[in-house]
Amino acid sequence: MSRTSIQDIQSKYDDGVALTMLTAYDAPIARRVDDGGVDMILVGDSAGHNHHGYEDTIPLTLEEALSNTAAVDRAADEAMVVADMPFLSYGTSMAESVENAGRFMKEAGADAVKLETAPYGETTIDIVDRLTELGVPVLGHVGLTPQRMNQIGGAFIQGRDHDASAAADALVDTAEQLVEAGAFAVVLEAVSEEAARRVTEAIPVPTIGIGAGRHVDGQVLVITDMLGLSEHSPSLARQYVDLDDAISSAVEQFVTEVETGEFPTREHTYDPIDEE
Ligand code: KIV
Repeated sequence: MSRTSIQDIQSKYDDGVALTMLTAYDAPIARRVDDGGVDMILVGDSAGHNHHGYEDTIPLTLEEALSNTAAVDRAADEAMVVADMPFLSYGTSMAESVENAGRFMKEAGADAVKLETAPYGETTIDIVDRLTELGVPVLGHVGLTPQRMNQIGGAFIQGRDHDASAAADALVDTAEQLVEAGAFAVVLEAVSEEAARRVTEAIPVPTIGIGAGRHVDGQVLVITDMLGLSEHSPSLARQYVDLDDAISSAVEQFVTEVETGEFPTREHTYDPIDEE
């Protein structure tokens, strides 16, 4: 079976079917996410803190992101694999941006790339235009853009009437420009519900919300948040299972069983010695 295409995404949207996306950073989780039936797997730069143990997304390198994407690509049969381009792997020059986006597709097997865009972010919008002209599908991302966290000063909700927040008009305008540049869908992160609704009504392609409320065309969650594996899970996320607890109990049980001699038993042993 072939992977979900941007045409499949658009036709689900046209039919009013909600779209689903989860992050994954490695093959075992990508396999489960793919089997679970999501439309898209995002190899997020949230791998920075959730997978590589950095403070945030900023230190994630291009090589790390490529390696994570390749692992997810090897595991995913049906979901579209979207590679999140890390901080400054795009934007420094057009040539470097195109070359790096190309590496995600040619070397790592991504089906599309995602680029964060600042309000009215001309540089990124031009890159999206060039990439889509060349055949690289692009998922836009507006609202809270964590790669700009040092610039904006914190994880402020966007679309609020507040100095640290992009105005709803700016989000609508930026999303419209991204669509004009060829983006096939737009992620809205940490945006007031009213601003998210305005963007959703303004553009003819799907909006995928994370902390953007109910009036969007699909939802994305960070996998470690929904599985209960994040150190700090934001209030926007719903936790569907507590793997943190399950893994800790399994590890404690292993330690106890090795210490008490309950593991391994004869069944886990090659050519066991028959003892009297
Ligand atoms: O990196 C990521 O996980 C993301 C999502 C929050 C959309 O960009």
